Amino acid sequence: MANKLWQKNITVDSEIERYTIGKDAEMDMYLAQFDVIGSIAHATMLETIGLLSTADRDTLLKGLREIYKKIQKGEFEIEPGVEDIHSEVELMLGEVGKKLHSGRSRNDQVLLDLKLFTRAKLQEVVEAVRSLFDTLQAQSEKYKNVLIPGYTHLQVAMPSSFGLWFGAYAESLLDDMQMLLAAYKVANRNPLGSAAGYGSSFPLNRTLTTELLGFESMCYNVVYAQMGRGKTERIVAQAVASVAGTLSKLAFDSCMFTSQNFGFMKLDAKYTTGSSIMPHKKNPDVFELTRAKCNKIQSIPNEIMMITNNLPSGYFRDLQIIKESYMPMFDEILDCLNMVKRMMAEITVNENVLGDSKYDCIFSVEEVNRLATEGMPFRDAYKKVGLDIEAGKFKANKEIHHTHEGSIGNLCNDKISALMDGVLNQFNFDKANNAEKGLLSLA
Ligand code: ARG
Repeated sequence: MANKLWQKNITVDSEIERYTIGKDAEMDMYLAQFDVIGSIAHATMLETIGLLSTADRDTLLKGLREIYKKIQKGEFEIEPGVEDIHSEVELMLGEVGKKLHSGRSRNDQVLLDLKLFTRAKLQEVVEAVRSLFDTLQAQSEKYKNVLIPGYTHLQVAMPSSFGLWFGAYAESLLDDMQMLLAAYKVANRNPLGSAAGYGSSFPLNRTLTTELLGFESMCYNVVYAQMGRGKTERIVAQAVASVAGTLSKLAFDSCMFTSQNFGFMKLDAKYTTGSSIMPHKKNPDVFELTRAKCNKIQSIPNEIMMITNNLPSGYFRDLQIIKESYMPMFDEILDCLNMVKRMMAEITVNENVLGDSKYDCIFSVEEVNRLATEGMPFRDAYKKVGLDIEAGKFKANKEIHHTHEGSIGNLCNDKISALMDGVLNQFNFDKANNAEKGLLSLA
């Protein structure tokens, strides 16, 4: 096979070719549109420093915008024998394409593509997290007066509520959103111009490409810019793993609470699956798959760390393998987020869980607190109630008064929501989106 950008006078062994290209034809499709956008910025910059004539630049921009349209229409593919997305785009541009690579290497090109891809995907994740957050908060408010038992050691412990349960997962997403914001800031810096990792003797205008692409800043040091490969993906994967951790815990609770032995919540039959042998089964597979998928996502930062941990500075082909874990991760987390949102919006709750006397003991602490308020030392009250329970003499008073911040009677959902807005306002997706639209002449 010929079509390699670096092919000179030696034909590479076909098995070596297969092995080194690996899954790039599939993985690089995720990067296609971003490779084109990056090249538009690069070509625009090359003209301003005299490395491209205005006519050549215009031919390149026209060609690149046509390729972009093909990608959008699903008519673009990396042809067999072509090494990667960078080669495919350059080859499609024909003769003038040969002028595009001045001052650039595939090393900074793929870095740039990954950063642009990450920005776009994080935007989708942030929107999906926000949407689930809103659903959980709405359910928390709706069911704030419905009590359930809280557990420690999976043993019945103290009064809790659906208000607390739904609201807890919403607040968990607030912290996950902080992680996403930190990850976005790391991804939102421009590596283009670092070339193979040591810059170029051409007088590149990196400030211009940084502005054209709507980045917050550039990765200045060219050696560090290249070191960002793998590091960016690990940090972003950690943020996504944080979201996955929230979903996986929520999924486990939901499996448990929908089981007949708890009977706290119910999924409509159309959201469950059956058994091939037991005619009565309505299984919550949707939560089980969410739990497994999200647990798998939580291993991705570790995979990336293992791939990159013992690499010195400078580019290595090892970095290509990260794409196989990293790119599909976004599809998976988005699928999980959307599914969980749907289930949380539709799930019904049992409004009389505490009608069952086996939960009466959750009010034991209330009784201890009542006696303590009346003047009995807490330790004596604790002992008295304990002995009453053992002797079968304990009568539960189900009137509870939890008033402090974050408790059953004072959920503070409005405060949590204000914090979420504060984090969301810092993303500034418009800057990136408008810059990219501008490069594509779509503005
Ligand atoms: N497919 C390669 C990667 O993902 C592109 C960069 C190739 N660079 C190189 N020096 N071989 O890393």
